[in-house]
Amino acid sequence: MTTFELRLARYGADLEASLRAVYGERTDGLFARVIELMRRALERRPEELRQLDEARLLRPDWLQQPGMIGYVAYADRYAGDLQGVADHLDHLCDHGVTYLHLMPLLKPRAGENDGGYAVADYRAVRNDLGTVDDLADLTRELRSRGISLVMDLVLNHVAREHEWARKAREGDPHYRDYFYLYPDRTEPDEYEKSLPEVFPDFAPGNFTWDDEIDGWVWTTFNSYQWDVNWTNPDVFCEYLDIMLYLANLGVEVIRLDAIAFIWKRLGTSSQNQPEVHHLTQALRAALRIVAPAVAFKAEAIVGPDDLIYYLGVGSHHGQVSDMAYHNSLMVQLWSMLASRDTRLTEVALSAFRPKPTNTTWATYVRCHDDIGWAIGDEDAAAAGLDGAAHRSFLSDFYAGAYPTSFARGLVFQENPATNDRRISGTLASLAGLEKALESRDERAVDAAVQRILLLHAVILGFGGVPLLYMGDELGMLNDYSYADDPDHAADNRWVHRPRMDWELARQASEDPGSVAGRINAGLKHLIAARKRTPHLHASVESTVVPSPDARLLILRREHPLGRMLQVYNVTEWAVQLECAVLREHVGGEASEVLSGYDYSLAPYSLTLTPYQALWLVEKVTPPTSHA
Ligand code: GLC
Repeated sequence: MTTFELRLARYGADLEASLRAVYGERTDGLFARVIELMRRALERRPEELRQLDEARLLRPDWLQQPGMIGYVAYADRYAGDLQGVADHLDHLCDHGVTYLHLMPLLKPRAGENDGGYAVADYRAVRNDLGTVDDLADLTRELRSRGISLVMDLVLNHVAREHEWARKAREGDPHYRDYFYLYPDRTEPDEYEKSLPEVFPDFAPGNFTWDDEIDGWVWTTFNSYQWDVNWTNPDVFCEYLDIMLYLANLGVEVIRLDAIAFIWKRLGTSSQNQPEVHHLTQALRAALRIVAPAVAFKAEAIVGPDDLIYYLGVGSHHGQVSDMAYHNSLMVQLWSMLASRDTRLTEVALSAFRPKPTNTTWATYVRCHDDIGWAIGDEDAAAAGLDGAAHRSFLSDFYAGAYPTSFARGLVFQENPATNDRRISGTLASLAGLEKALESRDERAVDAAVQRILLLHAVILGFGGVPLLYMGDELGMLNDYSYADDPDHAADNRWVHRPRMDWELARQASEDPGSVAGRINAGLKHLIAARKRTPHLHASVESTVVPSPDARLLILRREHPLGRMLQVYNVTEWAVQLECAVLREHVGGEASEVLSGYDYSLAPYSLTLTPYQALWLVEKVTPPTSHA
């Protein structure tokens, strides 16, 4: 049997069953088309990538290893263009990066394009960044440095200027069926009754009138982003072909952008529908046949109960995405810092059911998007809080409007109907550095630096791939110049998408005592500690140990090499903790990974300094042989 036949024998049934679950009768003929697409893609797969496939099959847990460190950047903002990125890999290697997510770089529409998420051509690179060949070269260069390239695949919509939309506008019935088009408001009005709004401020509603279509177009995000119709099997084939194309260019992780939205159902929020998972399963099976080196990352910013399905629950176990963003952990990090209280976080994290052991969280402090306060009312109530009041407090706090706030954030997408407000801002500005530097308050600067490092300690220690967001490794502040760019001015998420400050990077390495130097050195120290701690393998779950003190978060990891207990002080106060609480889990003598010291837990208590993190590892002595 050939490799193709062997893999088809292994995953073909899975692929066919998931297609049937979505398309039913319409599957006849579709499966044969899909097989043909896969066969052609495998034939074209470069030899070097086939070898990577073999290597990955021997190391299926590659994404779960503690050595994985992610970095997220816009190619142009990081280094001008793709060649510039290739010329600036030392900075990434210096931080131990093994996974690079370059923000959308495929050809977008001209003008406003939602940071590249309005794609006009999936098979072309943005003109100013380079060519498809440059992209393939970059993946090769990255691979030689042990870095996997991660790229977005925007699956929910295309730009109004994409060829499919253009042909639909010209009246081609084949392409009109690629979209959700309505002659009048009857159906849109029905759907709107249960649809939330993603951008209530600058793109209210979910439908846009288009003169050329002479009708309403489904546009969940911006008016120029047209939702594609996945009920059409042709759309499935198009995206599969694009995925295989990207895989053959050397993309190693595909970020499934806004995946929650790709299936619509009247009377629901049209998110997280079962078909979304069947479709992912079909795409996953196809990729396993052609390009097993490639992993999927789900970008599903949804509640914990819905999120877990993206990693595979029930019949989808092990069959969908390998990785998903831990949005809840990110939100909780900011909630803890503002409230100086870990109770809500304990409740929220405990409510997560364990993820499948072969999957991985993407953990992060900041990303290119705003922070939405995804805190459930029930969780809040269980922590003695009112959900709406707490969310409102967090918006006030991070907008700098709360009396004791240290943060400098901007309010994003205020929704007067729901009173919902989200927040933009860089990690450093939200953590207090901008305000502290402005007021020349040394102690406040120290506290901000400590907060930045504490948040990173949590994402590096939680288990999963920690994603460092470009500029955060230097404590880069808000960039208010976005307001001068007409394409960006209306979208204040650009305040936290600055251009890389290479001068600051140089200062940081030359002067470790400078603010950027302290942040950078502290972060590198944490990264090195993570890399040498096998207990952080992502197959192991971090679980909450109820803390006797609401200022401390305590997490426990049950690894065969020994238990690990992590303690985080989320406040600017010194906090005493009874050692008995720790002894119970890691015994009387433990190694503390971050300091490198052995800790005796025999005394009555120990003191955590402000914003201190402890990573305690149990000492397990293997049985000795008896002579
Ligand atoms: C994802 C992206 C976000 C974008 C949206 C629409 O959520 O992270 O930046 O606006 O998808 O593509």
